[in-house]
Amino acid sequence: MAQDKVFIFDTTLRDGEQVPGCKLNTEEKIKLALKLEALGVDIIEAGFPISSPGDFKSVEEISKAIKNATVAGLSRAVQKDIEVAAEALKPAVRPRIHTGIGASDNHIKYKFNSTRENILERAVAAVKLARNLVPDVEFYAEDAGRADIQFLAQLTEAVIAAGATVVNIPDTTGFCLPHQYQEKIAYLINNVPNIDKAILSCHCHNDLGLATANSIAGAMAGARQIECTINGIGERAGNTSLEEVVMIIKKHPELNLYTNIDTTKLLPMSRLVSETMRMVVQPNKAVVGDNAFSHSSGIHQDGFLKEASTYEIISPDEVGADTSRIVLTARSGRSALAYRFKNLGYNFDRNQVDELYQQFLRIADEKKEVEDADLIVIADKMKALA
Ligand code: KIV
Ligand code: ZN
Repeated sequence: MAQDKVFIFDTTLRDGEQVPGCKLNTEEKIKLALKLEALGVDIIEAGFPISSPGDFKSVEEISKAIKNATVAGLSRAVQKDIEVAAEALKPAVRPRIHTGIGASDNHIKYKFNSTRENILERAVAAVKLARNLVPDVEFYAEDAGRADIQFLAQLTEAVIAAGATVVNIPDTTGFCLPHQYQEKIAYLINNVPNIDKAILSCHCHNDLGLATANSIAGAMAGARQIECTINGIGERAGNTSLEEVVMIIKKHPELNLYTNIDTTKLLPMSRLVSETMRMVVQPNKAVVGDNAFSHSSGIHQDGFLKEASTYEIISPDEVGADTSRIVLTARSGRSALAYRFKNLGYNFDRNQVDELYQQFLRIADEKKEVEDADLIVIADKMKALA
């Protein structure tokens, strides 16, 4: 069966940069944009041009620097926003205006003090204006995760008729369960008459830790663009993590999906974003966390040393990591200890390893992790006695 491409829309430089304290300057943004392009992302959301002169400049400079990927600029469904976004995107080879408005009754009432009818009109006007300025227009129906599905379908139909090439269905508050988000996308695909004229996009936030699951569920229902950030950074609990959705799609060929991402660049990209934004990656983060390829308990280490696939479904080189790590702790067993001694150049027999293991446990109970220097001390003592 032919595989369908899922377009990867990276919003590290826009939604990701909304993390408090992670503001980037133009130079840093250009550097990251070039790396994102090399990673293989299809669309780079470079910023929100009307929000500040600095953001305008960043979008403009990224538009000049990027030659293959589409460059997107965010705007509200407001004339001035859209015109300024188009201006900033002028140098781009493939410019995209990403415009939109709140779609849930909550947003319509509290943010806009408006009505569904008025929101529909504003959405259509915004898309028409944007389409007069650039050929590629993405519409976002903010808070679609909590929006009435019939209204969402009506809005989707109207913005596609107005010229939207992509319709983004954001779960802005990270509220949906995966099956609910999947049903939303499926409903739109089955009920919006002109749906084949646009791509549906997943933009999921992680407030309940479901952003990745929801994005994959959306793609399973037929969405063909996923919006995500490196390391899952973004507003509040963050956005969908790029490395997670890409590796899920790679590891599950039965989904019949693929992306353009060069997965061997994932870890270097994650580290670069972490350093540039001065934001640490949690050690247990899937795919790119420091512990993603570390084995610490004796049972796991023994299995892993016999055959890596017993405890690893991704090999480190697939994501650009050097090697897996055997971490020596009080939970480690003899096989891991013997393996580490061997790597350090010591060849002890079984009885010697048994004896060393008792000494090792005493150190391990005192320290969180036993290091090579600790092992060398006990190994050299043992050799001196032999
Ligand atoms: O989360 C959201 O709804 C957004 C839109 C602006 C696309 O970031
Ligand atoms: Zn968002």
